[in-house]
Amino acid sequence: MRALVTGGAGFIGSHVVDALVERGDDVWVLDNLASGRRENVNAGSRLVEADVRDAGAVASAFAESKPETCFHLAAQADVRVSIAEPAFDAEVNVIGTANVLEAARANEAKVVFSSTGGAIYGECDGPADENSPRLPLATGQPCRKARDGRTPARSQVVINRALRSPPVSARRRDRLEAPPRAPARSGCSRCGRHR
Ligand SMILES: NC(=O)c1ccc[n+]([C@@H]2O[C@H](COP(=O)([O-])OP(=O)(O)OC[C@H]3O[C@@H](n4cnc5c(N)ncnc54)[C@H](O)[C@@H]3O)[C@@H](O)[C@H]2O)c1
Repeated sequence: MRALVTGGAGFIGSHVVDALVERGDDVWVLDNLASGRRENVNAGSRLVEADVRDAGAVASAFAESKPETCFHLAAQADVRVSIAEPAFDAEVNVIGTANVLEAARANEAKVVFSSTGGAIYGECDGPADENSPRLPLATGQPCRKARDGRTPARSQVVINRALRSPPVSARRRDRLEAPPRAPARSGCSRCGRHR
């Protein structure tokens, strides 16, 4: 199999690369070495130094490596950074993942995505199982799995309310009734189909 492992210089990714190389796969690694190390990258694989936030670089890596499967393990995985810099965390974990998924779709590659483990359960009185409530306390965690089924944006609001002092209000509206300000656009500015 031809495989592309994002984050293949990191902890989880480098073990995935080792296992794939060992069974004889053609393995490429995409990593910007933010927390990963060059020496972690299996000598039997090829390293492309690129950032998942850079859609063009991700597309080029897919075009060059032509993977059948992408294991997406590149991540900003440091909980402290996710609290201190939530926007940066979202850029890597949300935008970066979107770029990887889009490149995979364009190249008809399957994607194996594995992310947050126990951190999604937050503070627990005892061991958490699959059915435990998802109450992450780090702002980065909802980027990978939404808090109590909320969207990432709503999760950020809830968690910011818990961690930071300025009040934030979030409401879900089915439909807003108000006088129009400008003629409605016929479609989305990118594809013209949906809004
Ligand atoms: N380590 C664990 O015990 C564990 C448990 C459960 C889930 N996970 C999840 O597995 C994933 C990987 O975790 P890890 O422990 O291997 O982290 P890690 O920091 O060791 O590896 C992440 C890799 O991604 C690379 N990277 C970071 N930002 C990048 C970017 N913008 N572009 C390209 N590459 C980038 C880093 O250089 C690094 O090599 C994360 O989603 C993490 O939440 C880890």
